[in-house]
Amino acid sequence: MKRELPVAGRQRAFSGIQPSGELHIGNYLGAVRNWVKMQDDYDLFICVVDLHAIIQPYDPSEMPELVFDMALTLMAAGIDPERATLFVQSDIPQHSELSWIFTTVTPIGDLERMTQYKEKSARLASVPAGLLAYPILQAADILLYLATVVPVGADQSQHVELTREIVRKWNARYGDYFPEPQALIGQAKRVLGLDGQAKMSKSLGNTIGLLESPEEIWEKLRPAYTDPARKTRKDPGNPFICNIFSLHQEFSSDEDIAWAQEGCQTAGIGCIDCKRRLGDNMIEELRPIRGRADELKANPERVQEALRQGADRCLGIAEQTMAEVKRRMGLDHVRSPSEAKVDAD
Ligand code: AMP
Ligand code: TRP
Repeated sequence: MKRELPVAGRQRAFSGIQPSGELHIGNYLGAVRNWVKMQDDYDLFICVVDLHAIIQPYDPSEMPELVFDMALTLMAAGIDPERATLFVQSDIPQHSELSWIFTTVTPIGDLERMTQYKEKSARLASVPAGLLAYPILQAADILLYLATVVPVGADQSQHVELTREIVRKWNARYGDYFPEPQALIGQAKRVLGLDGQAKMSKSLGNTIGLLESPEEIWEKLRPAYTDPARKTRKDPGNPFICNIFSLHQEFSSDEDIAWAQEGCQTAGIGCIDCKRRLGDNMIEELRPIRGRADELKANPERVQEALRQGADRCLGIAEQTMAEVKRRMGLDHVRSPSEAKVDAD
């Protein structure tokens, strides 16, 4: 089905997510839930960024399934391909092309200052250049579509700031063309993992997956870290330093939040009661997502069709952007394939 053109006046928003195999509640609360809400008010593009994912060693035979599963989970979480444009990065070759162009205006010092780069490179004996260039590809993702809004978790604001710097540098050389995009940080800025210490992240094994069963969710919540002051049930705690209470604020009603706060401060409830109520509320919110995922697993062609439709639309826009970029950079040597043929003859 041919999609309608975006309603005039809607801002274009772009975000990406790596096909890491699991969408967890940190991604959901920090980014995806926000994307779902934005679909009617923005011309929203959501990209499964497989070219970013290949910076880490991976098994090529698993990649297609990882990409498919991420797209499926996003649709289950509420991304509606009739309202948003869902696609896979490597389907659109212009992401890599624009990324190269931006490497020529990006200072290495800016890249070396990125927190994510510093953290990840410190753990590696040999650092691939792609890890350093990662934010340049991210800038290309956003700017290929001239997006002005980038809804992400707080950990990505530095990369969006660098995107703005790249815009200023490129525009200064080649004329005002790219807009400076703004990060839009979700309500849950930085969701901690079940260890209550580090950011929830698949690589740290401290996550709850969006499609996990009620039993699995409970198995993970039960031993989760709480305020260490609550050594026994009789010791009062401070809910404001407890990750379980933070999660209540995302998943629970105002009444349940007040109940958890008071119960913790007065030792009226035990941590296990607080976790059980949180678990029930979380399971309730995630239940329809699991249901939709099961439906899509039974009809995988719906996911494939969404990605095909997304790629079609993106390709049209990407070609226009690159034509203008190359024109401004003096790189449009051959204006059309038919002219090239004439020259060759
Ligand atoms: P990633 O899985 O790293 O590709 O992240 C996808 C999106 O989820 C990005 O917008 C991140 O900022 C966001 N995100 C990932 N982990 C968290 C977290 N623990 N808290 C909040 N947002 C997160
Ligand atoms: N770097 C982002 C992350 O790890 C993913 C991403 C890639 C992205 N390209 C993007 C986010 C463009 C926003 C816009 O979460």
